[in-house]
Amino acid sequence: MWNVPFVPPTASKEGEDISLLYWAISALAIFFGAIVLFGAIYLAVRYRASNNDADRSNAVDTDLRLELSWTLIPLFLAIAIFAWAAKLYADIYAPRQGYYEVFVIGKQWMWHCQHPNGVRENNELTLPAGRLVKATIISQDVIHAFSIPAFRVKRDAVPGRYNAMYFTPTKPGEYHLFCTEYCGTKHSEMIGRVRVLPEKEFQAWLERGGAGVQAGGPMTLEQKGEQLFAQLACNTCHMNPNSAVKAPDLTNLYGSKVQLADGRTVIADDAYIRESILIPGAKIHAGYQNQMPSYQGQVSEEQIIQLIAYIKSLSTATGGK
Ligand code: CUA
Repeated sequence: MWNVPFVPPTASKEGEDISLLYWAISALAIFFGAIVLFGAIYLAVRYRASNNDADRSNAVDTDLRLELSWTLIPLFLAIAIFAWAAKLYADIYAPRQGYYEVFVIGKQWMWHCQHPNGVRENNELTLPAGRLVKATIISQDVIHAFSIPAFRVKRDAVPGRYNAMYFTPTKPGEYHLFCTEYCGTKHSEMIGRVRVLPEKEFQAWLERGGAGVQAGGPMTLEQKGEQLFAQLACNTCHMNPNSAVKAPDLTNLYGSKVQLADGRTVIADDAYIRESILIPGAKIHAGYQNQMPSYQGQVSEEQIIQLIAYIKSLSTATGGK
């Protein structure tokens, strides 16, 4: 009847859980608020100065049971709410397995999304219903925030850093997509839509190459990364046993422990590979020289994601993912 909903629609599994928590906290607040409000009104009326019927003898000024109960009950309720909320928080932000991954890049002033098979979307994100989704989010310029109210999720898009969040869309339909961090003049125009399709339709959509702009089907992220790897001539030093420059072999690098020249070890994850492309000298692989030129300004965030996908595919542990 009214198109002014008190809350946005709920269209994800995590969102339903968060809504339940939200309503539970609201109900508790209303319940305790009502006790205080109506208690105060009752006492004000009953003990008003003109009421001579009120019994003012033996006024109680301390009651241990009362004090314990109004201390302990809220304490346990608050601890329970904390535990409940922490669990829901972890569901969204802690690493999980068995997801469908999408890559989201924020830039002034649009959202740019890539699917693993290479399909790209602008200010639109198409997702399958009923599957856990991991959104890997980064910004190309200033801080943005990727927010889908119907899923009750949002995460900052920070330049230079991969942030992730997880959610499971449940209901096919169209939902709002917002930037919720002020990012310049056209911040309010940095909006879009999330489209959730039933699994089968989603697969068909993916295979068609998304909206159907790219004829002949798109290249996958891996394939684009491989092409880029050759275009940027990464392969003249890496993966080349005859190279004059000694550079680390990238086979089985992804996900492995890397011993650094300064004695530290790091896991070769997305963030490490991204940093090594842009600032090669930041973490030097033990046994190698700092000889690689920086690719800062030569590759976009979108291309870095493609290069990482390619390097990931060279690893047997994650190969073909
Ligand atoms: Cu991007 Cu606000």
